[in-house]
Amino acid sequence: MTGQKIDGVLVANSVKDRTRAAVAELKKEGIEPCLATVLVGDDPASASYVSSKQRDCSEVGIATKDHRLPKDFSQKELEALIGLLNDDSSVHGILVQLPLPEQIDEFSTISKISPLKDVDGLTPYNMGLLASGRALLKPCTPSGIMELLDFYKIDVSGKHVVIINRSNLVGKPLYYLLLEKNATVTTCHSKTRDLGSFCRTADVVITAVGNRAKFTLSGDMIKEGAIVIDVGTSRLEGRLAGDADYEAIIKKASYATPVPGGVGPMTRAMLLKNTVTAASISKGIGKYS
Ligand SMILES: NC(=O)c1ccc[n+]([C@@H]2O[C@H](COP(=O)([O-])OP(=O)(O)OC[C@H]3O[C@@H](n4cnc5c(N)ncnc54)[C@H](OP(=O)(O)O)[C@@H]3O)[C@@H](O)[C@H]2O)c1
Repeated sequence: MTGQKIDGVLVANSVKDRTRAAVAELKKEGIEPCLATVLVGDDPASASYVSSKQRDCSEVGIATKDHRLPKDFSQKELEALIGLLNDDSSVHGILVQLPLPEQIDEFSTISKISPLKDVDGLTPYNMGLLASGRALLKPCTPSGIMELLDFYKIDVSGKHVVIINRSNLVGKPLYYLLLEKNATVTTCHSKTRDLGSFCRTADVVITAVGNRAKFTLSGDMIKEGAIVIDVGTSRLEGRLAGDADYEAIIKKASYATPVPGGVGPMTRAMLLKNTVTAASISKGIGKYS
């Protein structure tokens, strides 16, 4: 069998269209959705991610406030800036670009962001709501994956989903979102013994390792008709690649995401959606979905 490619660009565009319409509605109510971005240091990859996020915002009519800080910026100064942004009623979402320089404690910094402006959905408060099935602002990559499944009418209820990742950014929030949809979820990681035996029993494999030198999801690791969502990004022969050997996987899977063009565009689109949700919540308008 040859499976269907899950087109992340197509789905991301549909999310962007809905977001653009929601932004226009908010503007009619006198609300100008605005995302504040915070970048500490001059890492070129991080700077480029922030610029892309700002471009995405402008595409759908969301304003941005850009904060670029020197790499020796202190924890105290950063927390003071976050405090100011929390109190600034013209700012609806706060994005602190990760990773942060080593003198800055990531967890403590993220914890200072108001949960109502936490457009990455990573504050302990929002993570707790997520685990309780009540979060409005959910981490962008996991919620983007759920949006992809939804768009392609892939119902995970009763299915066995294997996630290869246990990070706060991807694996843990995804676990809760999938449980909410009645999936049976197994979380695997670098210490999992015989990973292939788990994957071969899975109806859906979601992989987010990001190191092709160490790990490749090969065709013989999935069962016939499985669905494969590839979150990983690494370099293979100088090109951007996912965790999966896509050519081999798509011959056996019913659906699979490519890299690039799968999960990546969804992560970006969900940030826009979260910013509009934050703008709606802050004005008591309720949830935009
Ligand atoms: N496309 C997107 O929008 C998007 C968004 C977010 C992340 N990503 C990509 O997704 C990947 C993961 O991101 P992350 O922030 O979650 O990174 P991370 O914190 O480094 O997580 C990597 C996970 O992979 C596991 N792992 C490592 N080697 C393994 C192996 N040989 N077998 C099985 N599991 C293994 C790790 O296990 P341990 O916990 O035991 O170390 C960890 O749970 C990266 O490539 C990142 O660039 C892409």
